[in-house]
This record gives sequence, structure tokens and C-alpha cells, in this order.
Amino acid sequence: MGENNKKITTSSGAPMPHYEDSLSAGPRGQLLLQDYFLHEKLAQFNRERIPERIVHAKGSGAYGKFTVTNDISKYTRAKFLNKVGKETKVFMRFSTVGGERGSADSERDPRGFAMKFYTEDGNYDLVGNNTPVFFIKDPRKFPDFIHTQKRDPYTNCKFPTMVWDFWSLNPESLHQVTILMSNRGTPYGFRHMHGYGSHTFSMINKDNERVYVKFHFRTEQGIRNLTGKEAMEMRGIDPDYAQRDLYTTIEKGDFPKWKLHIQVMTEEQTKTFRWNPFDLTKVWSQKEYPLIEVGILELNENPANYFADVEQAAFAPAHVVDGISFSPDKMLQGRILSYPDAHRYRLGTNFEQIPVNRCPFMVNNYHRDGYMRVDGNGGSLPNYHPNSFDGFVADQSYVEPPLKLDSLVADHYDRNNNDDDHFTQPGDLYRLLDANEKEHLVNNIVDNMSGVDGPKKDEIIMRQLCHWFRADTNLGMSVAKGLGLSMDKLSEHMPK
Ligand code: HEM
Repeated sequence: MGENNKKITTSSGAPMPHYEDSLSAGPRGQLLLQDYFLHEKLAQFNRERIPERIVHAKGSGAYGKFTVTNDISKYTRAKFLNKVGKETKVFMRFSTVGGERGSADSERDPRGFAMKFYTEDGNYDLVGNNTPVFFIKDPRKFPDFIHTQKRDPYTNCKFPTMVWDFWSLNPESLHQVTILMSNRGTPYGFRHMHGYGSHTFSMINKDNERVYVKFHFRTEQGIRNLTGKEAMEMRGIDPDYAQRDLYTTIEKGDFPKWKLHIQVMTEEQTKTFRWNPFDLTKVWSQKEYPLIEVGILELNENPANYFADVEQAAFAPAHVVDGISFSPDKMLQGRILSYPDAHRYRLGTNFEQIPVNRCPFMVNNYHRDGYMRVDGNGGSLPNYHPNSFDGFVADQSYVEPPLKLDSLVADHYDRNNNDDDHFTQPGDLYRLLDANEKEHLVNNIVDNMSGVDGPKKDEIIMRQLCHWFRADTNLGMSVAKGLGLSMDKLSEHMPK
């Protein structure tokens, strides 16, 4: 930048001779309306905030690369996965879920694990969490669930009563709640946790054959968690410690890495799986469906500006690329609609043109105009299709195999009908923990449930206790003991 380009200017580029002092009638007098720069500066300042994400508002991001280490072309024709050694640029954002943009990084919460792969066939977003399952299995429940995780409408405080009321009334949440109450609910920053696509997705190969897959990113830094007490202290000591940890380690050149694996189920196998393979509250056994290595994700570049890249990043499960597709998972289906809608509200209809979101390869279509259209808007090319001029085609080589539907009868099916084993998997998880981990899990549950209060307290606690008992009797007994409940009181409430 030459000396001549170092002048402070207005937003329209006029050099400013007075940056610090307003234009006034005499040194102690009123300000003049014609001090345009003062208006511009205060008006710009008033507009600095955009709506924060309705969930996952607090987060940290970094750029990096994904490198293929194993040939999985028999499952997928995705171009960014088609050759061992192939590298793809990635942007990634970690987050907590329930807190506001200024909330503490060490809250007990799932952590978002969202990735954007800038591939030659378009941007591929994998918008996962650090947990393989979720609290609910029907997207209709998402707003109700999230309301319970945020602030009570009357007190404006976090409210354990509504949290446990919702969880106890929706026992399908038990698996995720068990993970959340373990020390994995308070990971040590973002580098020491695994990441999961969580949903079942599909992969399609060059012969147009479909398999179903789960994505697992396993941390190369090793799992490290905070205990409930450490997490609580960290909220006061350094509410931004996960952001600081990620930023400083990348700055030092100590680049965090995750190894990507998939689990694969054939269409045939989905029909005989013990649980609904498209139910987000369930995992697939790794013994039966072993992890298959795919590649390495490395984060190696801090964004130059937080707002530009991290706050304006827009990830959407709708953004799949050829060779990777959806599944009948109802939650995934709901998310396909919800995210781009959130982006249009939060960032405007042309959000895909913001540099962090822009596909660096090719975007050709007939969408035009709208607020903040800054990419030339298609110039003089036709804005309709078909046309006789531009030569753009819908390329049939990207066609997916047709989908067989499960049923021709549409209805509001009870999500838990014939699908109400919410207890085996969380029970198995509990039994896998060592004694120390079990103790932390129980202490965290007891601490959290002790916040339940009010006229429905006993009802809510007893309902949730039944779920813990059904997962594992020892777990139920330990929680009951921790809450100071006698066997007499328990037997009054237990189902006969
Ligand atoms: C039907 C269920 C769900 C709905 C309706 C939903 C909706 C949303 C919305 C509206 C946002 C804010 C998007 C934005 O403003 O950019 C968001 C963010 C996010 N959601 Fe979900 N969500 C659901 C379930 C899930 C699940 C199951 C996962 C993980 C497996 C997940 C992971 C994330 C992540 C990681 C973000 C933050 C993305 C970022 O870093 O910008 N969500 N969700």
C-alpha cells in the first residue's frame, strides 16, 4: 500500500482531514448537521450486529485441508474423495449450542462440529456434533427442545426444571443425555473431542449403487475433558478458553487433526438392523459395522477476521455433492429445509456470495438480484432457461439412483411406535464406563437434576429416574441415592 493509499477516508473513499473531532459551532458549541462523517460513523456502528445464530451462537473457526488416505471409491464417486493423497480446502466451525454469542465455552452442552469442503463439484457441508446421537428424532420437536435449553420466558434464567421436564417426557433423549452428563459434555476445548456426522447419510458410487454411511472424525490429540467442577471454574477464569486454545495452537503451528472414518450399511442390511438405522437417537455397533478409514482433516490457518469468516459462515446439511446424499432420517430431512432458511434470515438471500461461503469453482444458475448481490449478477447473460445463448446444461451424469419409498401411506406416525427401546444403548454406554467415569456421570446427573424445582418437582424427578433405572439398575440406584431419595419414596412412584 503506497503512502497515498494510507489516508483515512469516508466509506465512499473521500480522504478525511479530521478523524477525531466533530464539526461544531465554536470549540464549545453545538454540532453541525453537515458533519456527514459523524453520521456515517455512528450509523455504521449501530448496524454492526447481525442476528446471532438461533442455536450454536458461540463458536470458533479455522481453515484447513482434508487429505484422502484410503480409497473408498467402491462406495462413493465424490470427486474430492476419489484419489489417495487428494487435498481439499476446508473451513470448520466449532460451537456450543444453547448459549448466546458471548456465553462461556465450557458450558455443559454438545459441541457443534461443522465443516465446509470446497470441492470441484460444489461446497460440501457436514454439519455435525461431537456426539453420534441427538436428543430427539422428529424435527417438529426441535423448537420446543431448544426453548428448554435457553432461558425461561418469565425469569430470563436458565431453568433445569424445564430441561428435565422435556427430557423426561421424551425418553428418546436418554442416550444423548447420558453422553451429555458424562465428562464428554464438557470437553477440554475443541481439539480433544471426536466429531460425528451423526445422521445416516448415503453414498453413491460410479455404478449408481447406494450404501448408507455414518461419519466419524476421531481426534488425533486424544480425548480430554473437564470435570463438572473444572468446567464451572473455567466459565469464570476464561469464558473464551476454547477459542483461545484453538487460535493459539494454530498460531504456534501445532495443527490439530482428526482422522475421518465411515461405517457402511448396505440397503439390504438396513432392513434387518435391530433398530431403525435412520433413527438419530441410535448408534451402529462398530463391531458389526467397523470403521473404515477415509482421510485426515487438519486445521492450519486462523481466519484473518472473525466476523468476516466465522460469524458469516453458513453451513447447511442441504449442501451435499455428487456421490454423497441424504437418507430417510427425519431429522436430516427437517434440517435440509431449516438451515438455508436461517441463513437467508441471518445473512440475506445472497449469503452464498460471502467469500467464506462462496464456491471457488463454478456457480451457474438463473437466480438473480436481491439485497447485496455483489458478484456481477450474471452480467449480460440470459436470466432464464432454456435459452439459445449461454450453452449451460443440466448434466445427466450427476443423476442419483431412484429412491424406493417405504410406504405409500402418508400419516403422522407416532415416532416411538414399535421403536421405543430408548434404554438398551444408553445402558450399554454406562456399563462400558470405568468406575471413575461412572462416578462423574452420576455426580453430574445429580448436580443437574438437583436444580429441578417447583410444584412438579417430584413428578419430573421420578419420571426421569424411571428412565435411568430402565437403562441400568445400578445407574438408577446411584442417581436416586445422590438425590437423597429413599427406597420407600421410590416405590411409591415406580410403575407397578
Ligand atoms: C431438526 C433438527 C435441527 C434443526 C431444525 C436445526 C436448526 C439449526 C439452525 C437454524 C441453526 C443455525 C444456522 C445458522 O444460523 O447458520 C443450526 C446450527 C447448527 N446445528 Fe442444527 N438443527 C437441528 C439439529 C441438529 C443436529 C442433529 C446437529 C448435529 C448432528 C446440528 C448441528 C448444528 C451445528 C453444528 C450448527 C452450527 C453451524 C455453524 O457452526 O454455523 N443441528 N441448527
